[in-house]
Amino acid sequence: MSEPIIRVEDVHKSYLMGKEAVPALRGVSLDIQPGEFVCLMGPSGSGKTTLLNIVGGLDEPGRGHVIVEGENLVSLSENKLARLRLTKMGFIFQNYNLLGNFTAQENVEAPMVLAKNGRRQRKARAQTLLERVNLADRMHHYPNELSGGQQQRVAIARALANDPAILIADEMTGDLDSQTGFAIMELVASLNKEGMTIVFVTHDPRMAEFAGRVVNLQDGKIIS
Ligand SMILES: Nc1ncnc2c1ncn2[C@@H]1O[C@H](COP(=O)(O)OP(=O)(O)O)[C@@H](O)[C@H]1O
Ligand SMILES: [Mg+2]
Repeated sequence: MSEPIIRVEDVHKSYLMGKEAVPALRGVSLDIQPGEFVCLMGPSGSGKTTLLNIVGGLDEPGRGHVIVEGENLVSLSENKLARLRLTKMGFIFQNYNLLGNFTAQENVEAPMVLAKNGRRQRKARAQTLLERVNLADRMHHYPNELSGGQQQRVAIARALANDPAILIADEMTGDLDSQTGFAIMELVASLNKEGMTIVFVTHDPRMAEFAGRVVNLQDGKIIS
């Protein structure tokens, strides 16, 4: 067995609501192997987003450890963590999170600007990625000129910009009709077939069927 690409060790997380600590995760441990396609499921409020954000280094655990490709996120400096997020992970969200005054191509280029890639290289790669998600003819469109499914495909191309090893997606089909949602899942499944590790959250069992493994959360714990 190879080393896990992601190791979550006894992670706890609470949020402060006024003076009260609301537990979101209560001792979660999970190993994900390179190339796995993992779905996190569970009722609303069970801690799916919290766990995904902690795995992606977008949030910190209160207790426990998260190790990604051998790096313990908890002990990384802010700069190193930002670098790791930028180069090793791609993020996809329910509401696409595109920059509204940037074209599709400029949105895809954005992470490459942060990674300090040259202009010509960025442009070429953005075009290749937009072709990959079947949006070659929409490169110069702005998000408000695109359908939800098209916007999510731009977001996927953007997530791939710096060739991440891991794709992290929270309810990526949540705002889409089921046919469009299936097309998005098929695109993500094709990335997994090429070796990318995928961790996604859904509460739609039809989308969960794309995964190789389903992890069920309830009340901040893994139940199966
Ligand atoms: N920023 C926050 N502030 C306060 N409570 C939060 C925050 N984020 C999540 N929670 C609480 O943590 C629990 C888990 O939330 P979340 O991870 O968003 O669940 P899910 O994604 O499964 O719906 C819920 O009780 C939620 O209300
Ligand atoms: Mg959520």
